[in-house]
Amino acid sequence: MKIGIVGAGGRLGAALMREYQDKFDVSSFNHAQLDLSNLDDLREKLNATNLDVLINAAAFTNVDLCETERDRAFLINGEAPGVLAKICREKGAKLIHFSTDYVFDGEKREPYTEEDKANPISVYGQSKLAGEKNVLATVEEADGFPGTATPSPTDSPVPRHLVVRVSWVFGPDRPSFIDAIIKRAREERQVDAIADKFSTPTYTRDIAEMLPRFFTGVAVAGTGGPGPRTTAGHGSGIPTGITDPGYSVGDYGGILHFANAGECTWQEYAQWALDCCHEAGLPLKAKTVGARKLKNIADWIARRPVYSVLSTARYTQLTGTPPRAWRDAVADYITRFYSKK
Ligand SMILES: NC(=O)c1ccc[n+]([C@@H]2O[C@H](COP(=O)([O-])OP(=O)(O)OC[C@H]3O[C@@H](n4cnc5c(N)ncnc54)[C@H](OP(=O)(O)O)[C@@H]3O)[C@@H](O)[C@H]2O)c1
Repeated sequence: MKIGIVGAGGRLGAALMREYQDKFDVSSFNHAQLDLSNLDDLREKLNATNLDVLINAAAFTNVDLCETERDRAFLINGEAPGVLAKICREKGAKLIHFSTDYVFDGEKREPYTEEDKANPISVYGQSKLAGEKNVLATVEEADGFPGTATPSPTDSPVPRHLVVRVSWVFGPDRPSFIDAIIKRAREERQVDAIADKFSTPTYTRDIAEMLPRFFTGVAVAGTGGPGPRTTAGHGSGIPTGITDPGYSVGDYGGILHFANAGECTWQEYAQWALDCCHEAGLPLKAKTVGARKLKNIADWIARRPVYSVLSTARYTQLTGTPPRAWRDAVADYITRFYSKK
C-alpha cells in the first residue's frame, strides 16, 4: 500500500513517518519539500506520486499567529486541504486529514461528538473548519451529492475522505506543553498550569497505531471485507452499516474524533507528568503544579475553547477498541523518552 505523508517534519507527521516507513511504501514531504501555500507546486508534486492513501499532518498551527495572518491561515488550513482532496479524488486515493478540537466553541460541558455543531472562536479554528468542509465536499461532489453528506452508493469507486479531529497532541518529535512543563520543573521550584481549561492529551504514537485501521483496503481483525461505505459529520446522520457483516472500517469516511480516553485540565495533565517523572527517577526541582486561571493569561491573542473534550464513542464503536487512558499514554511517553535520559 502506497502512503503519502504531508507535514512529515511536524510533531504528528514525524511520528507517522517513523511508524509507517517499514510497514508501507511511504512517500513523505516536509515543509521544505512541499509548501501547502503553493497550490500549483502541490498539484505538480502530488500528481507525480503514486498513492493509495494521503495523510495531511501539515497545518499552520500557531493559534495566536493565525489571528494576525488570517489569509495565510485560510490558505494553508482551509484551501490547500481541499486541493489535496481533489488530487486524491482524481487518483482514486483516500485523504486522511487532521483537524482539531478548536473547531468547537467550548461552551459544552460534556464530550463533543462528531454530530455537534462546530462554532470556532479563533481564526485557527475557523480556518481548520474551512479545511474540513473543503475535504468532505470534494468526495460528496464526486458522489453526485453536492453539499450533502448523503451516503454514497455501496459500489462507489471513490474512497471517502476522512477528517480526524485530535486534541492536545504530544510526542517526541516536537516539544509541546508536557515537555515545557517537565523542562520548567527541572529548572525551577515553582511550576503552574491552567486549572480551568479542559480537554484530553493525545499521544502521537497512539494516533499512528490506530490510523491504519482507516486505510482503505487494510484488513482489520474482526471486520470483513469491503462493505457499505459510511459517512458522518457536517450534518450527516449516525453512520449506517457499521454493524453489517462485511463492513470494512477502512472505508469509513467523514469526521472522526480521536484522543486518549478521559479528560483533564492542564494542571492535572502537568501534575501527572511530574508524578511520572518522579516515578521514573528523573530529578525535578518542582514536585507539584500550582493552579492558574484562564482569565489571567494575558499573552494569548486568540480565544481558546474552555472545554474541548472529544467523544471517542464513535471510534470505539467502529473499531471495537477504546483508546487507552491519557494517564497511561503520558506514563508510556515519559518512560520511553525521559526515564533513560
Ligand atoms: N498540536 C496540537 O496540540 C494539536 C491539537 C489539535 C489538532 N492538531 C492538528 O494536528 C495536526 C498535526 O499537528 P502537529 O501537532 O504535528 O503540528 P506541528 O508540529 O506544528 O506540525 C505542523 C507541520 O506543518 C508544517 N507546515 C506549516 N505550514 C506549512 C506549509 N505552508 N506547507 C507545508 N507544511 C507546512 C510545519 O512545518 P514548519 O514547522 O516548517 O512550519 C510542521 O512540520 C494539525 O492538523 C493540527 O491542526 C494539533
